[in-house]
Amino acid sequence: MIGAYQASSQARVDAALEPLFQAPAPELERLYAAMRYSVMNGGKRVRPLLAYAACEALDAPAELANGAACAVELIHAYSLVHDDLPAMDDDDLRRGQPTTHKAFDEACAILAGDGLQSLAFGALLDPRLSPQSDSIRLRMVQALSAAAGPAGMVGGQAIDLGSVGVKLDQQALEFMHRHKTGALIEASVRLGALASGQADEQRLQALQVYARAVGLAFQVQDDILDVESDTATLGKRQGADIARDKPTYPALLGLEAAKAYAIELRDQALVAVQGFGESAEPLRALARYIVERRH
Ligand code: IPE
Ligand code: IPE
Ligand code: MG
Ligand code: MG
Ligand code: MG
Repeated sequence: MIGAYQASSQARVDAALEPLFQAPAPELERLYAAMRYSVMNGGKRVRPLLAYAACEALDAPAELANGAACAVELIHAYSLVHDDLPAMDDDDLRRGQPTTHKAFDEACAILAGDGLQSLAFGALLDPRLSPQSDSIRLRMVQALSAAAGPAGMVGGQAIDLGSVGVKLDQQALEFMHRHKTGALIEASVRLGALASGQADEQRLQALQVYARAVGLAFQVQDDILDVESDTATLGKRQGADIARDKPTYPALLGLEAAKAYAIELRDQALVAVQGFGESAEPLRALARYIVERRH
């Protein structure tokens, strides 16, 4: 089921994203080309899928979450462009292609990331992408700003880079993963739910429990794939964490225990949305996909 759902959701978010990369002046063409290159290059679109699925779980049409879906993917793409820079993970390959600073140059990659972050907030305020009331759009902007910023993803990245060669205990590792990856995944579900216009506190709370588990599971699986996948399948360099002595779940717990933990988190996510009906099937399928994926 996830294959067809993923394909149609990818097509939907890509169609919504594409017009954002039209350079408004010839002088800006290179910058816009770098932004387009960083986004329109075959990512799995897990965060947009989660936003659409959360919107649908509340019985609203997925299209209402177009702004949310674009916003979370734009933040994600910016975070990857910066994550790959020489000053951070120093990676040359991303989504099977040269990283943005390799295809363009470092200054251009830094600015492309900055630009993508601004476009993300714009997508939540553009009435064609986000037709919600001002009060809902304000809540979406608040949620994204908290998740993307220093108390969320950026904070997690700071901890990550400060932890190279350091032995973190499980509590510290979880804190880092919940920030660097979990926060944006939680925001993806929350933004999608808010975009539905049908979000009551009780269901938002259940979705939050779901997203918290899925968000951590996603990074645990990313760590596992760094150990047991291969560069061609991943589209990024396998073994990069080990080479850089990064703290990861397999390094801390061992591979088998890390896999068992990912499954436990998936089950926590499934329990959280037990009270939802048939319309939450995409959310359930995504929780399974996140720990079964091979790239
Ligand atoms: C990779 O994210 C970086 C992490 C936060 C673990 P994805 O695995 O979602 O990467 P793409 O978007 O499919 O390339
Ligand atoms: C990246 O984590 C998380 C963010 C970009 C916020 P990783 O450094 O593990 O991601 P990959 O493995 O390079 O995709
Ligand atoms: Mg990193
Ligand atoms: Mg990296
Ligand atoms: Mg990784």
